[in-house]
Parts: sequence; C-alpha cells; structure tokens
Amino acid sequence: MAERDVRFIHEAEVLANDAVAPGHLRMRVRAEEMARHARAGQFCMVQTARGLAPFLRRPMCFERILPDGFQLLYKIEGEGTRLLAEMTPGTRLSIQGPLGNGFDAGPDVARRIIVAGGIGVAPFPALADAILAACGEPPEVVLAARTRDMLLCADLFGALGCRVHLATDDGSAGERAYAAQMLERLEPGPDTRVYACGPIIMMKTTADVALAAGAECHVSLEAHMACGDGACLGCVVEAREEREGERMVRVCVDGPVFDARIIDWEARDHAHDL
Ligand SMILES: Cc1cc2nc3c(=O)[nH]c(=O)nc-3n(C[C@H](O)[C@H](O)[C@H](O)COP(=O)(O)OP(=O)(O)OC[C@H]3O[C@@H](n4cnc5c(N)ncnc54)[C@H](O)[C@@H]3O)c2cc1C
Ligand code: FES
Repeated sequence: MAERDVRFIHEAEVLANDAVAPGHLRMRVRAEEMARHARAGQFCMVQTARGLAPFLRRPMCFERILPDGFQLLYKIEGEGTRLLAEMTPGTRLSIQGPLGNGFDAGPDVARRIIVAGGIGVAPFPALADAILAACGEPPEVVLAARTRDMLLCADLFGALGCRVHLATDDGSAGERAYAAQMLERLEPGPDTRVYACGPIIMMKTTADVALAAGAECHVSLEAHMACGDGACLGCVVEAREEREGERMVRVCVDGPVFDARIIDWEARDHAHDL
C-alpha cells in the first residue's frame, strides 16, 4: 500500500495548547500511529466541535512530527479554530490523517530555501527536520510577516542550524521587504529548490522569482475543504494544463504540495484569497 493511502481516524489526546503570538497557538497531540506514517507537508482533518457545529473537520498541517504524535501551529480564524484554542490538556480530539502528498525533502538538489509568509510557516518545521535527516544539512529559511509579532518559529529554525532571513512589511524586524524580494536577494539558481507557503500573492511572486532563476518551486496551497479525501471537489484549483482530461486539481489529494508551474496563478488571483 502506498504511504499516502495509509490513514487513520484517531481519538488523539491534547498534551499542550499554548499561545505563541497574538491569535496564534501551538497544540501538541498524542497520536503515535498517525505520526509514524505522517510526512512533512501532509495534513490532517480535525474535528473541532463537540456538538454539530462546525460540522466539517478543519484541515491543519503537521508543524512537527514527533515520536508520539505531532504539533499543530494555528491561527484563530473563525469558530472552528476558536473552539480548538479552548481545548485544554487531556481533551480528546478526533483527527483524520495523514492526508495529501507532502514535500520532496530529498538530496537531489544542492540548495534548499524555505519561504514562509505568516501562518504559512506551519508546515515548515517538519520539512526542516526532514531535510536535515535526508540531506545532513538544514535549509535556508525566509520568514516573512506583516509585523514582528507574526514572525513565528524563528527560534525553532535557528535551533536546527538554519540560516534565517527575517522580513516584515513594516520593517519592525529584519529587512523591510516582502518574501519574494528576500528570496531574490538570496540569488537562487538552477541548483535550488524553493518551498513556499503563505498568502496567494506571496506564493505567486515567490514562484515568479524562483522560476525566473531556473530554480524549482514547490508550493503548499490552501483551499476550503469538506471531505479532505478527493470526493466532494470542494477544494479544486485551476491548473495550467490538462491532467487526466481535467484542467482542475484537488488540493486535498493531488496536493496540498504542487510544482508551482502547474498552478494557474492568474485564475487564483481572482479566487477568494485564502
Ligand atoms: C491543507 C491545509 C492545511 C492547513 N494548515 C493550517 C495550519 O497548519 N494552521 C492554520 O492556522 N491554518 C491551516 N489551514 C487553514 C485552516 O484550515 C483554516 O484557517 C480553518 O479551517 C478555518 O476554520 P474556522 O472554523 O476557524 O474558520 P471559518 O469560520 O471556517 O472561517 C473563518 C475565515 O477563515 C477563512 N477560511 C476558512 N477556511 C480556510 C482555509 N482552508 N484557508 C484559509 N482560510 C480559510 C474563511 O474564508 C473565513 O474568512 C490549512 C488549510 C488547508 C487546506
Ligand atoms: S476536500 Fe473534498 S475533494 Fe478535496
């Protein structure tokens, strides 16, 4: 059975759930079997409600995969994440996963640069762990956010030995620059793989810089999800080319990680900016 076909629904135990920045929390859960099969870039669907609402599970990527479970890093957006933020250690949480395809952390390129915008940093600590394990050296990291408060995980990447480049829109920490401008300054080349996650405009401009330099660019997309399993088509995004007779790809099963070249970024510009 392919690794991506192994999935579970666990009654996981919340071990910790602490604020890390205004409106942002980190939750650690015990879910040993899921953690054994999870890969960086994959995600899980979390049941946030005790009653009927919100009815749908909420998608969350694995911030870090640990021997006995994993960490989630999340931003309070609406009712589901608000309920998640209220959970205390000992709470049982229904989680479905691991889902989706995950990042390629392999050693087949010479240089790896992570580019994260705001809460888009969430899948990257797990990726940095995976790159370190696969390649023996940590990736470089561009951390970009609106303000200093929203620069998450800098200490964690630093502890892994990553060179971390900070950028804020208002110049309150690091360079006053956008993520794509910081990437450009690092001069990626054909030997580089760039990994990006964040707001659509940030991923599009980052992909433009990476691809113009001849680098690979892998993006982790977000979309509203209902089933998380390929059935409802709620998460489709436009692709540049037809694949298997379709011009759409499903973020939940074809992604969430995509080669940036296959995404129709112009169509995404007109979509609701997730
Ligand atoms: C594969 C995947 C992985 C994700 N990983 C993380 C993560 O690690 N950490 C994290 O904080 N968030 C992550 N998200 C986004 C997260 O799922 C949403 O923020 C969450 O579902 C919102 O639920 P809610 O009930 O709190 O808000 P809702 O009441 O459902 O919505 C509140 C607001 O958030 C917007 N919203 C709803 N769903 C999404 C979505 N999927 N993406 C962005 N905005 C949304 C709505 O348009 C609305 O404006 C991920 C999304 C996907 C698809
Ligand atoms: S969420 Fe249902 S097909 Fe992707």
